[in-house]
Amino acid sequence: MKVTVVGAGNVGATCANVLAHRDFINEIILLDIKEGTSEGKSLDIWEAAPVNHYSTRVTGVTNDYAATAASDVVVITSGLPRKPGMSRDDLIATNAKIVKSVTEEIVKYSPNTIIIVVSNPLDVMSYCAYLAAGLPSNKVMGMAGVLDTARYRAFLATEIGVSPKDIQALLLGGHGDTMVPLPKYTTVSGIPVTDFVPADKLEAIIERTKKGGGEIVNLLGTSAWYAPGAAAAQMVEVILKDEKRVLPVCAWLEGEYGQKGLYLGVPVVLGKNGIEKIIELKLDDNEQELLNDSAEAVRSVCAVLDDMKLF
Ligand code: NAI
Ligand code: 2OP
Repeated sequence: MKVTVVGAGNVGATCANVLAHRDFINEIILLDIKEGTSEGKSLDIWEAAPVNHYSTRVTGVTNDYAATAASDVVVITSGLPRKPGMSRDDLIATNAKIVKSVTEEIVKYSPNTIIIVVSNPLDVMSYCAYLAAGLPSNKVMGMAGVLDTARYRAFLATEIGVSPKDIQALLLGGHGDTMVPLPKYTTVSGIPVTDFVPADKLEAIIERTKKGGGEIVNLLGTSAWYAPGAAAAQMVEVILKDEKRVLPVCAWLEGEYGQKGLYLGVPVVLGKNGIEKIIELKLDDNEQELLNDSAEAVRSVCAVLDDMKLF
């Protein structure tokens, strides 16, 4: 098994580090445009292997795409992160060019790979990678829902005083303030969350989840990396182990949820073929309306990408 992580910054290096610690991949290539960054971080991860007992070989390269050849999964994290006062959408002009060129290089050397996009604005960068890759849509997806539900589950675990492992939750829509958490699918080991949390508290947690990325940006001056890196690593593991797990993933929709020709967060079955099935939930009118609003927000940023005339 071989995995490439493009971008050896905060998220990419964390993703490679988490994957190495899981000790089931033979080889991870960490690629960055900045000389020395990926080499240094990969060496550091490799030097932790004797202490933490893993065999996964992590190798850093500077823009050497030949080294990424025959990767089973590629995670794209290259691009600018948010700074305070910026929305994810402010990143599009720079990140679209980066994601396009990186994806083109990747598929040259790994024409059958599965691509997981992390760069922001996530839903639109997933679309950008899809256009650049020329791969079937089940093989190009974005990571956002695993992170957003992780935040939601972490906040609920704190509020209720239980392990985050026992909180199950789902979330739909774009990776932004319009994301749509679904309290009716949120449980604590199968018990409805509403048995534990009063309506006003739950609403406050949902609002905090929607702004979870911004909360970290305001604290750190740049965006999060531990939870995003772990979330992307989980998707890689689920795919490579063909676990068929049901996770919220940014996927290409062709009519599901009333949306066509758009990348948006939805629950999917993830396995060795990438997105193996999109699960369509029965939404009530209010949930559908919120999802439509979220889709519109993503569409408006897709229009900015279209106007850039990169494709
Ligand atoms: P970072 O600045 O720490 O790392 C980005 C890396 O990309 C840098 O090392 C840079 O040299 C590299 N890079 C830039 N252009 C490149 C190119 N053409 N080829 C190869 N490498 C290139 O940023 P961080 O914090 O790792 O975030 C990365 C991206 O992920 C940002 O766009 C951020 O907004 C996004 N993000 C998305 C999340 C999600 O849930 N989808 C969560 C957190 C971050
Ligand atoms: C996050 O949600 C900024 O997308 C990044 O942390």
